[in-house]
Amino acid sequence: MKKLETALTQQVLAALYETTAPISGEDLAEKLAVSRTAIWKAIGKLRSSGYKIDAAPNRGYQLVCGVDIPYPQEVQRGLETQNFGHNAYFYQHLVSTNDTLRTLAKEGASEGTLVIAEQQQQGRGRWGRAWQSEAGENLTFSLLLRPHFEPRKVTVLAPMVGVACLKVLRAEPYGLPVNLKWPNDLLVNGKKLGGILIELSLELERIHYAVLGLGINVNANFAQVDFPATSLKILSGQTLPRVPLLQKLLLALEEEYQELINSGSGSLLSTYRQWCETVGQEIAVYSRGELVAQGTAQEIDPDFNLVVATAQGPVTVTSAEVSLRGS
Ligand code: BTN
Repeated sequence: MKKLETALTQQVLAALYETTAPISGEDLAEKLAVSRTAIWKAIGKLRSSGYKIDAAPNRGYQLVCGVDIPYPQEVQRGLETQNFGHNAYFYQHLVSTNDTLRTLAKEGASEGTLVIAEQQQQGRGRWGRAWQSEAGENLTFSLLLRPHFEPRKVTVLAPMVGVACLKVLRAEPYGLPVNLKWPNDLLVNGKKLGGILIELSLELERIHYAVLGLGINVNANFAQVDFPATSLKILSGQTLPRVPLLQKLLLALEEEYQELINSGSGSLLSTYRQWCETVGQEIAVYSRGELVAQGTAQEIDPDFNLVVATAQGPVTVTSAEVSLRGS
């Protein structure tokens, strides 16, 4: 019953989007072959989800404005991907989108499945740090991949996601000078605009799945945070819609992934090298709290590892093992 009601609500919404003129409850009921009471209930649900719907006596219902909430129906309207985001779940609250997607992955969810949340109770970042994001302000989502390449090549995923995000954020309408802190923090002038947390299920022979978790600061104001952070709103001086940004990110992620599968990592590597601002910096690299290398970040090697020139000679560090702090 619940599923049928949800489907009807989506059909009513689609019918309202289709027309610019008001449409009567009677016409909607006839079009969708349901009762007027069912239409009335569906309109109520849409309104409580944030849609502004006028109801003029004798004329009918009219959608005054949609919502900028990343509901699947909003994300999927005009989405240009072939697959990413076509199977999508939205939650007002959950613990972490990565956890929910992992559960779906274990149940057999397909590649490209998307989980979006308005608010995470325990959103997490790399190295057990918390990821905080106020409801309704930003984008917090996870995307499922089922890559067929060898597990040792999995380190390519973090740069791939970082580069996909930068392709969107550096282009119009955003046009921001975003760079990557190795392996994949999104930074503008040293302040964090977004973060990526990739969690894997793999065995020696194959990757079962990869959960790509992304948090992008869109409309956060950050009045009080104890770390250098920024948002698209702070950088551009205006509130920006989240749904088109998510659509662009999904398309860029799909294109970058397809390129990787079809042509290998050559072009990704050269773009990554261009946009990774860590090279040339004095850094300290830690693994589980222990200092493992200190010196000048020298280069990104072909496996996307960071080579650090230390007093004892070059040290190669992989993103799977370390966290990085500016010295
Ligand atoms: C970091 O910079 O340390 C990574 C932050 C990743 C945050 C995102 S928000 C969506 C997804 N769910 C989580 O719990 N974390 C990631």
